[in-house]
Amino acid sequence: MIKKLIMAVVVFAASLSVAFNAHAQKFEQIAKTPQLGWNSWNTFACDVNEQMIREMADAMVSSGMKAAGYEYINIDDCWHGERDKNGFIQVDKKHFPSGMKALADYVHSKGLKLGIYSDAGNTTCAGRPGSRGHEYQDALTYASWGIDYVKYDWCDTQDINPKSAYATMRDAIHKAGRPMLFSICEWGDNKPWEWAQNVGHSWRTTGDIYPCWSCEHNHGSWSSFGVLPILDKQAGLRKYAGPGHWNDMDMMEVGNGMSEDEDRAHFSLWAIMASPLIAGNDLRTMSEATKKILTNKDMLAINQDKLGIQAMKWIDEGDIEIYVKPLEKGDYAVLFLNRADTSMNYSLDWNFHYLKDDISKHEIFFDKKKFTWRDIWNGGKGSTAEKLNLTMAAHSVVVLRLTPQ
Ligand code: GAL
Repeated sequence: MIKKLIMAVVVFAASLSVAFNAHAQKFEQIAKTPQLGWNSWNTFACDVNEQMIREMADAMVSSGMKAAGYEYINIDDCWHGERDKNGFIQVDKKHFPSGMKALADYVHSKGLKLGIYSDAGNTTCAGRPGSRGHEYQDALTYASWGIDYVKYDWCDTQDINPKSAYATMRDAIHKAGRPMLFSICEWGDNKPWEWAQNVGHSWRTTGDIYPCWSCEHNHGSWSSFGVLPILDKQAGLRKYAGPGHWNDMDMMEVGNGMSEDEDRAHFSLWAIMASPLIAGNDLRTMSEATKKILTNKDMLAINQDKLGIQAMKWIDEGDIEIYVKPLEKGDYAVLFLNRADTSMNYSLDWNFHYLKDDISKHEIFFDKKKFTWRDIWNGGKGSTAEKLNLTMAAHSVVVLRLTPQ
């Protein structure tokens, strides 16, 4: 009798969950390759206004970033004013006097898309109104403004269940009816890679980035991380990434104070790891060197490859690591990373190496199969039939694109 009762409860619960999942949807035709864009937070923090956002859209076009594939202009925290008497969120009228709809129209007129930021809790990380209890209202409001992207943060959430909080906003966005990329930002605290594939289009895997190579920056109750600590926190996550659902290594710090070699390495690593590439510098005043890094078409093509496979760490020699990303048509991207503070020589005799990727089921015997290669950053050319000899500056990468011979 008790057994029967338990069975009935189990069957009922299962049917409920099927019913729940049948309604649960995210917009599917978004972020089939990692999203490319810009976000205000890394440079401007709370100091955002409509004029600056317009200028950033202009700069995305005039710099050639739009032509290179970047499409989102994202306003992070602090655009919010108060809720009105019916609970609808309003913009901060002092800094966004023309309103969000007018700003979205402007960004759209440039052929770009507009992103916005909210939080699953009562207040955002900077203390503005969060979406808790207002999810459906907020999604409707964003849709009416013409918003294309929602980054959804995790401050002030106390005892909220992350899976249902993010699913609620996903459902609210779907119900509002306007396709919006849903970017989950809970810093990897609740392992979103295990449950968010049908919830968001990307999820942050770590705490905030900081523009340094290997530091951890202590802010008291939390830390932010440099390029290497964020890279190292991706261990074990590649199997969760794929078209429509990416491991997000946070907005980039290219052009925000690191050396050119470090910036190039940072960009190349984020690209090969199939992370969203969201610039975080001031596009209006960036140097030629920064622009050249952000618009490197070959590196962007590696990130945007249709197979959507995140790179694997192939060889680990301590200071030197080699990452490999399988690409369309039998190509491979191979990234050599020098983590060390000094320059390093490194030689690779391909003939003695074998590559096996259990996740993408790729396998190469380099003694049998030969490739030509092209150096993505300096244009050099070669073949895997010959030994590769590299001299790598401190904190730098070499990236080769291999094509079957
Ligand atoms: C953090 C988030 C940052 C930024 C900030 C805004 O939680 O990780 O990327 O959005 O909040 O207050």
